[in-house]
Amino acid sequence: METFSNFCIYHYKEIFSTNTEALDLIDKGIFDETVIIADKQTNGRGRTGKRWLSPEGNLYISFIINPVGKFSEFVFITAIAVGHTLLSLVDNLGVQYKWPNDILIDGKKISGVLIERKSYSNWLVIGVGINIVHAPLQESTCISNYCNPLSNMDLLTMLIINFNKLRKQWILNGFYDIRKAWLERAFKLNELISIKLADQLLSGIFTGIDTDGKLILKQENEDLVYFDTGELF
Ligand code: BTN
Repeated sequence: METFSNFCIYHYKEIFSTNTEALDLIDKGIFDETVIIADKQTNGRGRTGKRWLSPEGNLYISFIINPVGKFSEFVFITAIAVGHTLLSLVDNLGVQYKWPNDILIDGKKISGVLIERKSYSNWLVIGVGINIVHAPLQESTCISNYCNPLSNMDLLTMLIINFNKLRKQWILNGFYDIRKAWLERAFKLNELISIKLADQLLSGIFTGIDTDGKLILKQENEDLVYFDTGELF
């Protein structure tokens, strides 16, 4: 175990899923902010029960933090931390944030965030996958398409620095600045979109996110619908 910027870092060669390991660690009792990183996952998990393909070479990490304030805002803080990290590798990258948890470059997914917690605990698990040298799915991309690849540990240290900076800013100024930064690079903002829920599909103009991070959809009849879950198309 090493430490960096107050995080204890546990580095595994191969693991089931860093998020699953992080949730187990919470059950065992945890006292310090921790990051779990794995070179490879055998059962990487994405949102809505999807798999996250995790061959060696990409970044797979889970932050375990004990935040004060709203848990729901961390998906935006984390997405921007990933965005800033990518932009510090290459200027002028076409980074966009796709509601609720994706980071895109030139419209292709490069990173996803999966936030989980135990109902009886304040510890929050923030899983982040970033494609470094593999883009496992069609319509996905990876860092090596834009610049020389770097190691997962080097990428993690950059991510921790950006994540901590944004957390500090969030503690001082609240969600306002985070929301603004996220909206400046929001995918399909002010465009016609569809939101898919388990049993329905709703279309309208994506007009923004509210102060709780809910997506605001303006329907044809001008009604506003607010979403805290769903998939954007
Ligand atoms: C998504 O886009 O659906 C979220 C993907 C999150 C993947 C990361 S990889 C590290 C952490 N461990 C997991 O099993 N999932 C997250």
